[in-house]
Amino acid sequence: MARILMVASEATPFAKTGGLADVIGSLPEALLEHGHEVAVVMPRYGSIPTADLRQVWGNSVIYLGRHAISCDFWSKQERGVTFYFADIPWLFGRPGLYGHGDDHLRFAALSQAALNVIRLLWRADIVHLHDWQSALVAPYLKTRFQYDPVFQGIRTVFTVHNLEHQGRFGASLFGELGLDDWLMKPEFLEYRGDVSLMKGGLIFADAITTVSPRYAAEIQTPEFGFGLDGVVRSQSYKLTGILNGADYKTWSPETDQVIAARYSADDLSGKAECKLDLLRSIGLPEDNMERPLLGVVSRLARQKGFDLLSDIAWEMMNAGVCLAVVGSGESKYEQMFQNLASAFPGRVAGYIGYNDDLAHKVEAGADIFLMPSLFEPCGLNQIYSLRYGTIPVVRATGGLDDTVDGETGFKFWGYWAHDFLLGIRAALEAYQDREGWIRRMRTAMSRDFSWNISARRYSDLYRGLLGRG
Ligand code: ADP
Ligand code: GLC
Repeated sequence: MARILMVASEATPFAKTGGLADVIGSLPEALLEHGHEVAVVMPRYGSIPTADLRQVWGNSVIYLGRHAISCDFWSKQERGVTFYFADIPWLFGRPGLYGHGDDHLRFAALSQAALNVIRLLWRADIVHLHDWQSALVAPYLKTRFQYDPVFQGIRTVFTVHNLEHQGRFGASLFGELGLDDWLMKPEFLEYRGDVSLMKGGLIFADAITTVSPRYAAEIQTPEFGFGLDGVVRSQSYKLTGILNGADYKTWSPETDQVIAARYSADDLSGKAECKLDLLRSIGLPEDNMERPLLGVVSRLARQKGFDLLSDIAWEMMNAGVCLAVVGSGESKYEQMFQNLASAFPGRVAGYIGYNDDLAHKVEAGADIFLMPSLFEPCGLNQIYSLRYGTIPVVRATGGLDDTVDGETGFKFWGYWAHDFLLGIRAALEAYQDREGWIRRMRTAMSRDFSWNISARRYSDLYRGLLGRG
């Protein structure tokens, strides 16, 4: 048994922009079942009301450069896990989670807040960090607080959810991070004249994990390393890939209360009702019931491969399908889907924005799910799709390659629009064979990507680090 403190910038049900939130909302609970005690530290964003939280500390102080920052802590139990919310209103009480000019300060403050939690509220054996937003905890513990008795014996795990986003800031901001000057060197946190928080996590953590075995190999290559592949290679002795689990309490057609009807591998009859409900909810005519319905739920970013979709959209639509998209992000992709909806009225509908209920309805109501990602560290939507019997067409990269196989979905390899189109065509052809398709749905639904196995792997990793192997 160990005491694990997770530090992260988002977690369901409190704040979410992507899959990181799903992981932080469900991995801790899975670790409880392995006998660990788990707590999470995250910011109290303005969107998280204090009304149902309990204040547990007032006015702790964080020193960052010339700033002495006051930080309160609030707490809430969620699924057996204690969540601590670092409350610094002038840093976190604004709309949106990221993209502010002072993000370096905001997330350095989160990292220091996590250390205050250990000092004041919750003693930890392992501090488990996620992405650049909490990466600084590792260098803080190994340098500035190296001899502080409070932190003796603590081991750090740093999980890379996405190497593209590195927390890279101009060198002039280094002084505000509360780090020793000697760390601003290429061997440590300097990256091409800037400071890279991700690099700090990679170099100073006791262990690095990433969210699929395939991605663990990929990030050691220039193609997927976003300039840090050399650093990753130099630290590869402590790197492992551990596949994300799915939270089947939230994402299962047997129990999902958002979708129109429950269904299972044994009784698929409810799925047609879900398709009808999706058509209605997203504004497509009901006479589309006979057409294959393709679904997308995604951040609209280059990572997700929509440049490929854009290239083949017309040919895809001319195959007689209809398309339901839920997504938000870069305006060029939003525009692309809007143009497609105008070109194919009644057959393409896009909900541009973030909508959790619609995301569930697409997972349940679509026949085929599209994920042509350029790269995909793990990807959760294809895992949810498998569970809902919504057959994925994916590019074989990262976690997509690790979770989808020829029996459950359709894969293509090269990042080529034509290959994607061939993948879609293969799926559409298979869809015509109703019996074969139903068999495929049942196989997909019976694949187990719950946290069981992956939580054990984290558990083994923690035990190894603590010398309790
Ligand atoms: P990433 O974290 O790279 O965005 P993942 O597949 O790991 O990709 O996780 C995405 C998560 O975010 C899923 O839970 C998905 O349902 C959700 N999601 C993405 N875009 C939207 C949206 N526009 N509305 C609702 N949920 C969304
Ligand atoms: C990142 C990745 C995604 C992964 C998620 C959770 O957002 O883009 O592939 O599933 O983190 O680990």
